[in-house]
Amino acid sequence: MSSEPNVLLEIVEPSIYRLTINRPKALNALNRATIAELGAALATVAADHDARVLLVTGAGDKAFVAGADIRAMQDMSPIEGQGFARETMAVFRQLETLAIPVIAVVNGYALGGGCELAMSCDWIVAGENAVFGQPEVNLGLTPGFGGTQRLTRLVGRARALELITTGRQIKADEALRWGLVNHVFPAAQLMDEALTMARQIASKAPIAVRLSKEAVQRGQDLDLDNACQFEAQVFGLAFSTEDKREGVAAFLDKRTPSFSNR
Ligand code: HXC
Repeated sequence: MSSEPNVLLEIVEPSIYRLTINRPKALNALNRATIAELGAALATVAADHDARVLLVTGAGDKAFVAGADIRAMQDMSPIEGQGFARETMAVFRQLETLAIPVIAVVNGYALGGGCELAMSCDWIVAGENAVFGQPEVNLGLTPGFGGTQRLTRLVGRARALELITTGRQIKADEALRWGLVNHVFPAAQLMDEALTMARQIASKAPIAVRLSKEAVQRGQDLDLDNACQFEAQVFGLAFSTEDKREGVAAFLDKRTPSFSNR
């Protein structure tokens, strides 16, 4: 067994974290150990009050994540399979509900569980070499890490069902047209472009960024009246922060604000 960690977590610049799924020989396929390490890494990020952005990517230049580990699933019983799906969904939900923005940096294949991992991030930037798909029907399986639900919410029922029932894989440009991906960059520039985006977020008022994410996320599961009520509460809460006083004063003084995360 390899002693290399399956998940690498680094602080690439102050307040910017990068998490890398690190099984390049298996195209970063997700097994249970990797999912457990992912959960632990996310707990570390969640506990850091200075964390402002998380980038999620895959090791190597070929794959983001090529899916759940097919070899590991070969001898699983139905109950074990269900347990694997549930454990992973809980960790992906941990990722999705992290207080700070999370950007998937998709540097190659994002298939099956890999596409599901990318969709659990707040948005996706992709290299021109990226490929997305839910090919589980080729294996006699269904998506099991939230793909039937998140893909449908992101691209609509017709497109989601087309991908899921045909197993067709789409390239970055088509994923961009479908709205699955926010931006496509040449592969060699992908991480730099993602870092530029991360720096932009990290320069903004951190509590306002976190509250905005919470309002968008919670609001999605509420009716419009309750969602707007929640937004009003969040908006009011922002008035209690030092960063709101600083941001407004800096605008009126025609200077750059200096935010303190308080
Ligand atoms: C385990 C995998 C893997 C996977 C690739 N590998 N994908 N191992 N699980 N999902 C391994 C290969 O076995 C091979 O190992 C090595 O990575 C390189 O892969 P190749 O196939 O040789 O590379 P290439 O020919 O370039 O093809 C790339 C590929 C293909 C098109 C991405 O590997 C592929 O189709 N992979 C499977 C994709 C898939 O079906 N994903 C969905 C999985 S099901 P060796 O040892 O031979 O070098 C899923 C369900 C989620 O995700 C829900 C579960 C509850």
